Amino acid sequence: MKLFDKKKNRRNSNSKKWDRYHSKDILPMWVADMDFESPVCIKNALRRYIEHGIYGYHSEPKELRDTLKKYLNKKGWNIKKDWIVLTPSVGAPIYSIYDLIPKTSQVIVPTPIYLNFLKAPKHLGRKIEKLPMKTENGRLIIDFKKLLSTARKNSWLMFVNPQNPGGTVYSKNEIKELAKIINKKNITVFSDELHCDLILKENLKHTPLGSIKEIENNVISFYSASKTFNVPGLNCAFAVIPSDKLRGAFKKNAQGIIDDANITGLIALSSAFSKGWKWRDDLIKYLNLNLQILLKTLDKYQNADPIIPEATYLLWVKIKNPKQKTYNHILRIMVWV
Ligand SMILES: Cc1ncc(COP(=O)(O)O)c(C=O)c1O
Repeated sequence: MKLFDKKKNRRNSNSKKWDRYHSKDILPMWVADMDFESPVCIKNALRRYIEHGIYGYHSEPKELRDTLKKYLNKKGWNIKKDWIVLTPSVGAPIYSIYDLIPKTSQVIVPTPIYLNFLKAPKHLGRKIEKLPMKTENGRLIIDFKKLLSTARKNSWLMFVNPQNPGGTVYSKNEIKELAKIINKKNITVFSDELHCDLILKENLKHTPLGSIKEIENNVISFYSASKTFNVPGLNCAFAVIPSDKLRGAFKKNAQGIIDDANITGLIALSSAFSKGWKWRDDLIKYLNLNLQILLKTLDKYQNADPIIPEATYLLWVKIKNPKQKTYNHILRIMVWV
């Protein structure tokens, strides 16, 4: 655990997060990028690559697809290796997916949501239908009844699980309820499961939406080592697309993006998903300690109303009557500091 106490100065280290306010005394927390060093297994694997000294065009690590298949198998999803499509990030394919959706299709976007899901349709001149989420028992969740009444046949849904910014982990029952709606309305889903290895509570489990057999062919799922193992700068993620038709369309539309994951990211992904789990378990313990400290601090402020996250290292804090207090700038707090 001492590992996570180590403070490292990231100023002047080409950090997008820290460079934004470099001349001001501001702790930057505007992007999901931790200030922890990645595990030794990643550093060693990268060292071997660096030491080789020749950095030509690359192919993917031989063991990678087996590792990714095993990774999803542990989550209860038996995938085929050729369903995997490597990408340089999750953020970029959000644009190519929007571009792929027929102009006449209804696109449902539960809000709040990661910014690219709103920026991409604006950029591409696409209409979307926002579906405000509801807070139930302190959890920010999709209103399934509203979704059922809003969704037309053959629409698209942007789904994030665990949800960012609320940190909601949808239960197996909730996933099954959602799957029924998807099946009934034949909805196609972009399922962003990037934060699925950052579940803070031991009794909660991630259920991949694509693992529900009846809707397998309706779902494009995204995963990455970037958030959990703090390697977003190495540009690597992967999609799992069981439907041949959807996979073909996605690949065609994302030419130039797919199969362009960075080799350092592929090495980090392969190493993290095979040897990084003990480090991840320690990280979760540390994040829980930080969360408790932060919640205790926020307790002192009557008009700060945090949504206690079940996952992720982000904390969403609602500020009631912000004009009456001086700390109205606290909107989103990341809990690793
Ligand atoms: C829910 C969600 N999706 C996608 C991204 C972007 O991921 P990437 O760095 O792989 O583009 C983020 C980054 O914070 C995120 O929180």
